[in-house]
Amino acid sequence: MKIFIPVLLLFIGVSSFMSMSKSSETVQVKTVLKDTLMLDREKYITKLKDSLKGKESMVADSVFKNIKSLKGKSVEQVLSIMNNWGHALGVTCKFCHDVNDWTSEKSRNHLRTREMIVMNDRLNRELLSQMKGFRQPVTMGCISCHNEMKEPPHDGPRPQGPRQRPEGAKN
Ligand code: HEC
Ligand code: HEC
Repeated sequence: MKIFIPVLLLFIGVSSFMSMSKSSETVQVKTVLKDTLMLDREKYITKLKDSLKGKESMVADSVFKNIKSLKGKSVEQVLSIMNNWGHALGVTCKFCHDVNDWTSEKSRNHLRTREMIVMNDRLNRELLSQMKGFRQPVTMGCISCHNEMKEPPHDGPRPQGPRQRPEGAKN
């Protein structure tokens, strides 16, 4: 019995050390993955910034051709929002864009993003700011739901099989 306790302690020590080194490995893999997404996004941002030198503080609507949701923001702000969206959803620019034609709306995630902006804006303005039991301001952004995922986890059962596209959806 006397020998049993130190042996048990040693066993616990070794196994917890092993699980520790395992989890630090997964953290490393995750960081590398994250870095490649970030590097990819930054590659395009740097390219755009180089081609737009001197126009950084101009209103984006006067520089880009298809600004509808972000009217009034500067070029620099728009590019930084793009990077933030990519980070919030854990994606590169390609998730929402044809990277050879930034103006194109062909990607369905481009249009979905515009709908998300309307939803997110109303959520903050009409609901969260009215909550009396909380210290204001209460706000949510893309990251609050997405948390680096394309699709946030669904609450409750998921619909079975592919969901029908809404009438008139192009892609
Ligand atoms: C989650 C989707 C999403 C991601 C990710 C995203 N964008 Fe966008 N991007 C949009 C939407 C939507 C617009 C249109 C904004 C508006 O209507 O004001 C836009 C607009 C733009 C524009 C202006 C295009 C024009 O001609 O008007 C540029 C340039 C751009 N994005 C670059 C980028 C870059 C670079 C990245 C990667 C770092 C990126 N975007 C990531 C959705 C996205
Ligand atoms: C209140 C929670 C919430 C917020 C805030 C939110 N989203 Fe979403 N988003 C969702 C949900 C839920 C879905 C999945 C909808 C579905 O297909 O069922 C989604 C889906 C999307 C999709 C489509 C992804 C895919 O693979 O189908 C895009 C793009 C997107 N969101 C962009 C954004 C952006 C950009 C913002 C910030 C401006 C944002 N979302 C803020 C909840 C949110």
